[in-house]
Amino acid sequence: MNLEVRYTSEEEILFEEIKNGRTFDKGDELPPIYKKHLMNLLWMQGDSEYAGSLGYMPWIEKAPTLMEKVLVAQIVKDEMRHAQVVYKILEDLGEDTQKHVETKELDFKLEDDLAQIGFKRMKDDFRVNIFYYNITHWTDFILFNFLMDRAAGHQLEDTLESSYIPWKAGLGGIYKEEIMHVAHGDKWIKKLATDPNEKAFLQERLNLWWPRVMNVFGNARGSSNPIYVHLGLKRRTNAEVRDAFVKEIKGMADEYGLTIPEYRQDDQPV
Ligand SMILES: [Fe+2]
Ligand SMILES: [Fe+2]
Repeated sequence: MNLEVRYTSEEEILFEEIKNGRTFDKGDELPPIYKKHLMNLLWMQGDSEYAGSLGYMPWIEKAPTLMEKVLVAQIVKDEMRHAQVVYKILEDLGEDTQKHVETKELDFKLEDDLAQIGFKRMKDDFRVNIFYYNITHWTDFILFNFLMDRAAGHQLEDTLESSYIPWKAGLGGIYKEEIMHVAHGDKWIKKLATDPNEKAFLQERLNLWWPRVMNVFGNARGSSNPIYVHLGLKRRTNAEVRDAFVKEIKGMADEYGLTIPEYRQDDQPV
């Protein structure tokens, strides 16, 4: 398959300027290719933060202790704030995010606890598709912090130096909060992995969530990824970010005697 994408000479010049430090700010006229890809990433993040917050919400009530209810409430608030920050940037780009959250089913969740949807989209929104799955156990909530907030952290880290100034300005605070969510996951994974009554179930749920989180890094067969690097919206390709994530998880899994399942992108439903 030929994945080579052809760009116009104007676009090639833009890439070169961005490589040499060109940035864009609120109110600037954006080159069409830049605006299109920037908005893709913003919608994807905004909807993921929003749907993520709603998915965590029932766990304020269901968390095992009062202290954990407080921590989950904080995480829910963080995610909703992240959504608001990103939607505000989209508003400033002329998008109607209020109508979007009112009309899209961002609270939709799959009912089948064991579903594997690969790269499929279930609804007409832009969330990363792991946010279609339901969090049915406290162990899932913890795995979400351990895996998905970590994956998000890696992806955000990659955009901290974004060429779009308003996004870069918002991301610093978001990134710090994601690191707190990851720390919450890490603390609990250690607790569950060292509890003989919990470990087998943790491994079972890890097996279920692993392909779901790996799919977040996208389908390497797609060709849209390097353009984000050309536009200064990301530093690394998805595959590079995924490798850094996997390496980190593998190290921790070894430490806790957990097994990371085999993952093959070609086996995933498309
Ligand atoms: Fe977030
Ligand atoms: Fe988070």
